[in-house]
Amino acid sequence: MIKKLKIEVKNLNKVIDSKRILKNISFTIEPEEHLVIIGGSGAGKSMLAKCILGLENISSGSIFFDGKLISRNADRQKILDKLGVCFQSNALFDSYNIWQNIAFKKLYNEKSPSIIKLRKLAIERLREVGLPTNIAEDYPSELSGGMQKRVGIARSIFSDPDILIFDEPTTGLDPIMSKKIISLISKIIKDSKKTAITITHDINLAMFLATKIILLNDGKVEWSGNPKQAILSKNKLLKIFLNG
Ligand SMILES: Nc1ncnc2c1ncn2[C@@H]1O[C@H](COP(=O)(O)OP(=O)(O)OP(=O)(O)O)[C@@H](O)[C@H]1O
Ligand SMILES: [Mg+2]
Repeated sequence: MIKKLKIEVKNLNKVIDSKRILKNISFTIEPEEHLVIIGGSGAGKSMLAKCILGLENISSGSIFFDGKLISRNADRQKILDKLGVCFQSNALFDSYNIWQNIAFKKLYNEKSPSIIKLRKLAIERLREVGLPTNIAEDYPSELSGGMQKRVGIARSIFSDPDILIFDEPTTGLDPIMSKKIISLISKIIKDSKKTAITITHDINLAMFLATKIILLNDGKVEWSGNPKQAILSKNKLLKIFLNG
């Protein structure tokens, strides 16, 4: 059975060294919704994702998964187990081969992992993201940026997580590869019907993928709504994004 999760963020603040990085952020992502967070460089997008992931402590406010409060000192492993993440930097490990990178969480967290089983599942995921399976034993440095992105996506879906988070999935890719990655993400989300969050500078990606958009500016929610409302909005910053 597919587990669908609702995420609620209430009055979230993040302060580092007296600098307010996230300011009173509140939003809800309903099950099966796809939230796209857009905003300029330094707006706080990645930090917000890290707070949801539990990789950063929040300074105040609350985050709920299905109505359950994820406290500041919550068991992080439990949260991370529900989430599939594709980091902005791909975060592939150079010294591990492609299938080991895809299966990384299970390979290194389980006491006695079944190598044969994990390798087989990793190869299945390679197929799902449209990569040739004969790269399983190659190393990240042997792949192009676009292929590395796909490996990152394959890793994010490896354990069939409840929530998917993609941070800048198309940054650094040429327009053709960007389009391919966007359709891949769209297919994954539609097929799995999972709650998902994508972070991007790319308004076209947001308009295509989102059921809900949040525009972050200087750590605050500047605007939120669906793609149709975005077109009609008079918000100046949003218009700048939309008019490219
Ligand atoms: N560990 C940290 N310590 C101090 N400041 C930080 C830290 N991480 C992020 N920041 C600051 O928080 C702000 C938001 O950073 P964040 O990485 O979330 O931006 P972003 O919206 O993801 O930008 P980009 O589009 O460039 O990836 C920036 O001003 C950044 O310098
Ligand atoms: Mg970022």
